[in-house]
This record gives sequence, structure tokens and C-alpha cells, in this order.
Amino acid sequence: MILIIDFGSQTAHLIGRRIREMGVPCEITTPEGILSRLKKSSPKGIIFSGGPSSVYGKDALLVDKRIFNLGIPILGICYGLEVLGHVLGGKVAPGKKKEYGSTSFSLIKESPLFAGWQDKKKNFTVWMSHFDQVIEPPSGTVVIGSTPAVKIAAFADERRRFYGIMFHPEVHHTEYGKEILHNFVFNICQEVMLDNRLSTKDLVDKIKNDIGDKNAVCALSGGIDSSVAAVLSHQAIGKNLTCFYVDTGMMRQGETDEIIATFKKYFKLNLKIINAEELFLSKLKDVIDPEEKRRIIGETFIRIFEKEAIKLEAKFLIQGTIYPDVIESKGTKHAAKIKTHHNVGGLPAKHGFKIVEPLRFLYKDEVREIARKLNFPPKMIHRHVFPGPGLAVRIIGEVTKEKLEILRKAEGIVVEEIKKAGLYDDIWMAFAVFTGVKSTGVTGDERKYGETIAVRVIESKDTMTADWVRLPYPLLAKISERITTEIFDVVRVVYDITTKPPATMEWE
Ligand code: XMP
Repeated sequence: MILIIDFGSQTAHLIGRRIREMGVPCEITTPEGILSRLKKSSPKGIIFSGGPSSVYGKDALLVDKRIFNLGIPILGICYGLEVLGHVLGGKVAPGKKKEYGSTSFSLIKESPLFAGWQDKKKNFTVWMSHFDQVIEPPSGTVVIGSTPAVKIAAFADERRRFYGIMFHPEVHHTEYGKEILHNFVFNICQEVMLDNRLSTKDLVDKIKNDIGDKNAVCALSGGIDSSVAAVLSHQAIGKNLTCFYVDTGMMRQGETDEIIATFKKYFKLNLKIINAEELFLSKLKDVIDPEEKRRIIGETFIRIFEKEAIKLEAKFLIQGTIYPDVIESKGTKHAAKIKTHHNVGGLPAKHGFKIVEPLRFLYKDEVREIARKLNFPPKMIHRHVFPGPGLAVRIIGEVTKEKLEILRKAEGIVVEEIKKAGLYDDIWMAFAVFTGVKSTGVTGDERKYGETIAVRVIESKDTMTADWVRLPYPLLAKISERITTEIFDVVRVVYDITTKPPATMEWE
């Protein structure tokens, strides 16, 4: 077993997932009381995750020094490297330059951590997200790698098998990331492979166990997560399940009709449609703050479900929450809150449900794999992700019917052109944002002070990091031309060229 100590990282669970994918069991724990925890289990290796704090901060999360006397190999990632550096007696200081996103990592010294390619490739791309850095390595360690901004980007004590790396090997965008974790787990910790992959039967059994013979309602958005949760729950509890699709008015063009038709054709479950556009719009009136929008939407959703559940005497609410929703909503002890995913952090403290989240520990691509096992139509499996709060978080400022209409048209054009270019299945999301920024245009020899639409097209594997897609210029030109000519109010189109981190995918 590999033990991951979570210092509040956005990606600690992703490290766990990578280890699990190798067929090796792992557990995630927090740094508090770690020694007594280690007495109960004997991991072959320990990983210190990243985290949002500073080792020299007032409330810094650190570890008991005695952990280094147990003879267990340790890999520190990002903040984990700083913990290693600091607790072992090195020096950590604020960096001169923040480093977020990709950078080039150069190998300085050979190490079993880089076995397999270090003699062929001395420089490779890694993803960083940090501000502090180690400026003096602890005694007994040697520097094994650097980046242009960080002199000590990796160090090792090969004798005691302690390794620190400043970058994130667990994210898909780091070149050789999987290989580094593989080397740590198999070569350095000498762990052996088991097979513990998830099965649909396990998931169905767990739902059966949670709900028994009671009634449950399921919040179905038509996206892959809630649809998989609904179909698994239907297999588990059959006619005791009622699914509700709430049309919030924040949906994409033609979305509601398409979802109803698909469910009718492929899945024989009990689906009820609730039209709540006016209710959501009235609740969102004058609301500008993004987190407030998410909170209001979450609350409005749950109140609708409560009303319906009373009629059915249902105590359970099934949701398609997946792990990135949980982690970004501060669902683990030390993680920082990035945004309130309405189906997790957006739920009011008081509601009358027991929440069932069968996919809570999975990532999107794992959910897609389950969907394939459940014989979902390919169109549903490849459909781009759409956030629970819908277009509301793609309109900066107050949400109105007029802005929604403009955005729906713009989004329709972006997706249509991406599909025509044959790129739809290869990218994570393609969408438009109503920026709320007005700017001057000139149409038909007249001045027009109109709206600015931003286009965001990104690729990602696991939600935690993303890169913007280098679309061909003619395609970008076509999208811009169509938006400005087909939507009267828009005079300007811009393309978002920011990675995650530092930006998130959605603008709010
Ligand atoms: P961010 O903007 O956090 O988005 O980088 C990561 C992915 O999550 C989706 N997203 C949500 N999904 N409820 C959801 O079910 C939400 O409240 C929510 N907010 C963002 C987003 O579309 C992207 O794919």
C-alpha cells in the first residue's frame, strides 16, 4: 500500500488514482496524528501531496519529524517537496516569480526516479503551480533537476530514499509523470501489483446497500455523470427511483428536447421534467457575485427536489457528483475552496435528504468508461461537459433572459463550427462566454457599442489541469465572423488563451 498524505492539494486524489491505475492499493490521509496512523498500516511508500500553505506560514501544515526515521521511501510533490526540505533542515523562501502551468524541467543528475528515459532525454515538460521554493536543499540530499525559474526543482537523498519534486507528476500534462510515479512505486518502494479496479456491480451493490427498499429521487441533468448515476441507481433500486430533470433556463440550445428524446429511446426509467426557468431567473435577479450565483442555484435546485420528494415519500437524493466537484468545492480537510460546485458546496446546510453520490470518488474519464460498460450511446459519452449551474456561470454579471439568448446563439455557433471541423471528440470543452464588457464597433458605417463574446476551447483529461486548443486560424476566423454577423448585439470576439492553472475552465 502507498500512503498519500494530503496537505490540502487540489490533486491529492489524482495521485491516488494514478497509483490505483497501476493496480496498487493506496490510502489518502491528513498529516495530523500520522505516526499512530503508520503504526496501524505499513505502507511500502509515502507521498506528500501539494498544498495551498507556506511552510513558514503561521498555520503551516507540517509532519512529525520522526516519520523520516521509519525507513519508508518518501516522495514530496510541490508543497510536499517544501515540507521535506523544511523539516529535514533545508531552507524554503518565497520565489521571485510565480510559476503556474507548463515549464521545461532539466535533469541535473541521474536518479532511479527518472529511470527509463534519462539517458535519452534531459529536458521535458512539466506542470507547476507554486510560489515558494527551496533555496537550500537539506543536508544529505543532492539537487537532481531544475527549471528556468527554480534552481532546486528536484532533490534526492538516494540512501534514505527521499525524493522531492516541485512539479506535479500526477497531472496529465506533465511529460513522464506516470513513469515517475511508476518508478517511485515499483522501483524505489518495490511495491507489487494487485488488481482493484472498479466494477459496475460493486457500484450497484453499494447503492442497493445505501438505499435498501426506500424511495429515492435522482437529479438528472442529462450530462454523463448524472446519467450514469441514474442508470446505476435504476439497476439497483428499479421502480423505487424517480428521476427529475429541471430546466433552469440556463441550458444550451435544444438541450432539454434532446435529453428527453435520448432517455425515452435508450433508458426505460421514470423521468419527470420540471420547467423552472422563471423561478431561477427571479432568484438570480441583480446577483453579480459568482459564488452567490452558485449558492442560489444549488439552493433553488434542492428546494425543488424537496417539494417533489415529499409527494413520493423519498428520503434519498442521488447525484452524479464526481471527485473534481468535491475537491474544488473544498470537500477535503485542508484543500482551498476554488469554487462552489452547486451539487456539492452549493447545497444549503439544512435540507431533508440523505445524499447518495455513487461516483464521488471517480474522475470524468472513469465515468465515461462505466458509461461504455452500460452501453450508453456514443453521442452521450462524448458529449462535452456542462457545469451544473449552466450558462449562469458563463455570463459575467447579472443573468438575464436577453443575455442568455445571446450566449446560447454564440455557444451554438462555436460548437457547430468545431463539429464541422471534426475536432469535437478530441477536445474537453468548447464554449462561449458573455463577458459583460461593452466595446465600440462599426457596422454599416455606424458606431455600435456592443457586447464582447469570449471563446474558450480547451483540452483536459482529468479536469484538474487544462490547456487551450491551438485552433487553426481559418476556424477561429469563421467562428468570429459568424458570431458578429449572426448575433446583432455582439461587436467583438476574443479567444481565451489561458491554461488551468492559473485560470479555471469556466469563467465563474
Ligand atoms: P473549472 O471551471 O472548475 O471546471 O475549471 C472544471 C470542470 O467542471 C465543470 N464544472 C462543474 N460541473 N457542477 C458541475 O457538475 C458545477 O457546479 C461545475 N462548475 C464547473 C466545468 O464545466 C469543467 O468541465
